[in-house]
Amino acid sequence: MFLNKSYIIILLDNIKMSELERIFLNKWRNKKFKSKSIISKKIFYLKNYLKKLYPKSKNNMNKVSFSGWGMITTFPKPPWKNSKSKDDQNFNDFHDELCRLIKKKKFFLSQFYLPDTDYEKILEELKWRSYIIYNSALLSLNFAKRDKFNIVECGVCDGLTVFFALKVYKFKKVNFKGYLYDSFDEMKEEHLVDKDKNQSGNYNYLKIEQTQKNLEMFENEVVFLKGYIPNVFQNGDHPDEISWLHIDLNSSKTTFETMEFFYPKIVNNGIIIFDDYGMFDTTKEVVDDFLKNKKGHFISYPTGQGMFIKKVE
Ligand SMILES: C[S@@+](CC[C@H](N)C(=O)[O-])C[C@H]1O[C@@H](n2cnc3c(N)ncnc32)[C@H](O)[C@@H]1O
Repeated sequence: MFLNKSYIIILLDNIKMSELERIFLNKWRNKKFKSKSIISKKIFYLKNYLKKLYPKSKNNMNKVSFSGWGMITTFPKPPWKNSKSKDDQNFNDFHDELCRLIKKKKFFLSQFYLPDTDYEKILEELKWRSYIIYNSALLSLNFAKRDKFNIVECGVCDGLTVFFALKVYKFKKVNFKGYLYDSFDEMKEEHLVDKDKNQSGNYNYLKIEQTQKNLEMFENEVVFLKGYIPNVFQNGDHPDEISWLHIDLNSSKTTFETMEFFYPKIVNNGIIIFDDYGMFDTTKEVVDDFLKNKKGHFISYPTGQGMFIKKVE
């Protein structure tokens, strides 16, 4: 059956959507995103929702304790709920702090902006992703011990993910520096392989000043390296030893170039987190290929994230 755009819109309007899905659908409708990538995303979401809706009885739905990024948890409860672990409680505190900052307009999530966005709901839906980021930073801090830690994020956007890593390092009162790489400008075709070209033009609304404002509580601990990867690696000061590296670039080509540049600098038990591993086939391919002969351990998560713990020979 041929599904035209208006038919898909009517269909999607009648399906219970998460806040993230609603925002993405509306952005697509407003033609703020390139339609091709959003259509495939919507079909993905639609399929997921149909799968989720039909097998579940009303009773089962009542037991849902987490729903986000196409994942639904009915049992057990997410680890941040009623946990006795101090680390889990800290995660909840950081999460609540971020919600408060957003409410007070001290932290702006431009990537999810629509006039009626429910940011609290978005953060709730992204909670597993944030929890994995938080724990990866904690792992690197506890097991890749140094006198001074360097942490790196490539693909910073508004600073949402790196907020959780920076909070961990700051809270534990260790000596650290965060290196934040982003073009803070639209994605360009020259940095994309053919299969990723639908990303071209995305993030044209980003402003480095906004992200700096969002992360101003870390202003003494972070440096912003504005520029396109890989060109940005050619000049300037880059860290020699890295404990934690997060790659979230929506591009397999630049993910590869980032690994080439930073992998030798990752210390023993240092962590690399890949946000796009389960979402972009092209990225999964280059990550699998790059890591296949490397010593360490890789784990992939239902959020689409992948994590590698490096072992130095
Ligand atoms: C998915 S967003 C990152 C999201 C972010 N980690 C968060 O907190 O949710 C992808 C980011 O990668 C950046 N980016 C994409 N290609 C780039 C390149 N070649 N060089 C530098 N930054 C790039 C974009 O500007 C955008 O901010």
